Amino acid sequence: MTFYVTTPIYYVNDVPHIGHAYSTVTADALARWHRLAGDEVFFLTGTDEHGDKIARAAQANGAQPQEWADRTAARFVETWKTLEISYDDFIRTTEPRHYRAVQQFLQKVHDNGYIELGIYRGLYCVSCEDYKKESELVDGLCPIHLRPVEMLEEENYFFKLSAFGDRLLEWYEEHPDAVRPSTKRNEALGIIKGGLEDISITRTSTRWGVEVPWDPAHVFYVWYDALINYVTAIGYGEDPDRFATWWPAVHHLIGKDIIRFHCVWWPAMCMAAGVDPPAHLLVTGWLLVSGEKMSKSGGNQVTPADLVAEYGVDALRYHLLRDTPLGSDGDFSYEGVTARYNADLANNLGNLMARVCTVVGSKCGGVGPPPDPASRLATVATAVVTEVVAAWAQSQPHLALEATWRLIHETNAELESTEPWKADPGPAVDAVLGSALEALRIVALLAWPAMPGTSAEIWGRLGLPGEPSAGRVPGDASWGGYPGGLTVQRGAPLFPRRTG
Ligand code: MSP
Repeated sequence: MTFYVTTPIYYVNDVPHIGHAYSTVTADALARWHRLAGDEVFFLTGTDEHGDKIARAAQANGAQPQEWADRTAARFVETWKTLEISYDDFIRTTEPRHYRAVQQFLQKVHDNGYIELGIYRGLYCVSCEDYKKESELVDGLCPIHLRPVEMLEEENYFFKLSAFGDRLLEWYEEHPDAVRPSTKRNEALGIIKGGLEDISITRTSTRWGVEVPWDPAHVFYVWYDALINYVTAIGYGEDPDRFATWWPAVHHLIGKDIIRFHCVWWPAMCMAAGVDPPAHLLVTGWLLVSGEKMSKSGGNQVTPADLVAEYGVDALRYHLLRDTPLGSDGDFSYEGVTARYNADLANNLGNLMARVCTVVGSKCGGVGPPPDPASRLATVATAVVTEVVAAWAQSQPHLALEATWRLIHETNAELESTEPWKADPGPAVDAVLGSALEALRIVALLAWPAMPGTSAEIWGRLGLPGEPSAGRVPGDASWGGYPGGLTVQRGAPLFPRRTG
């Protein structure tokens, strides 16, 4: 199986914040899960570098747009490194490969008769890089950014989106699971049923964009170039075999604010270019800070690198994945991260690891015994693995982690009821400890997509050779894989308890 997953490409007017990290970590965990499941994975992220918003940010900082984009894109690359994001490709929309793909794709749409010249007049929000209808405004302001809109008038090329209403509805009918969760699918359907107007897709007011191949006085509107990144990266127009390997079976992870672009425009653009629409659109909610969307203009940004310095990368990744069901809004607070850290990581996982390794040291001479095939934990682990597989298949990392932590909890409970630290060394103690080691081995495999570093550390301390990433689920997560006879190391606490 192949698994192609994408994040939105981030605007380079803004430095990475925890809202961006939320969407990228989610995509990373999905990519890692599919690698563990043995799929061939291609994980794409990148930066969106054209448009007025970027040009103005550059100007405000006394830089040329390209210079500014280079600088900010580097911040994203750096942040994703800190967060151990395992992308296969980082696309920047100012790269020559993207210019070529955009020009080919849109030339095709033009040749197919879906682009024509007209005059556009409208209210424009620079922060959205999008026109607004009068009826959408709140007190005359953009409803998303609460900033004034500007009246723009230009000669533009238009994409005949209005020609695609019926075809889009048909496509949605034939692909009932294309957009998840279903509430977001309904939102997309609502937009289509509300009537589609043609959209202006070029600008003459700026040069900061991809030149229109048949009329170089125009550049493409930033959204129109940005969406095409998803096909640029897999060789659209240049490598048909590679393109066919990954398309249309893509999984686009997107925020709820960009549904219209991805669930209405993009499928229609694909149809117009003679390409199949993207197969899966997964909509995430927002990470809120005190009920507000985190953003540059809101002045409420939290920087991922600061959190990593404070809590460690895996604690941050775990919190992002565990506390916000995919599709819902999440709330970010330091209290929330600390509470999750102490309960799940320090107490549950950290304690289990420390306990098991210590008692293996004192009762088994530091050599791990094999698991008991008849342990109660074997039944728990089997059920947990099934649930975890189902949760990832539904793209619900929080459920996968919840189930995994049940195995940790049950293993701790088993130790508490049998108290191997009080018993004399012998087969009964070996059986309990061997089963606890086996549970930890399975936990290390299942938690790897969320916490790669911690999983590798557990793996190593249990004396297992190689890396958990080389494992294959669900097969390698079946009960009985811990061989016994391996040297177990106690090591420092994985997650020292935090007081603040
Ligand atoms: N450049 C466009 C996307 C083009 S994709 C072809 C864009 N960029 S963005 O940087 O503004 O936002 C990118 C993604 O980050 C969006 O999905 C958005 O929802 C997400 N987030 C930005 N702030 C967020 C939060 N506070 N919380 C969660 N996600 C948020 O839109």
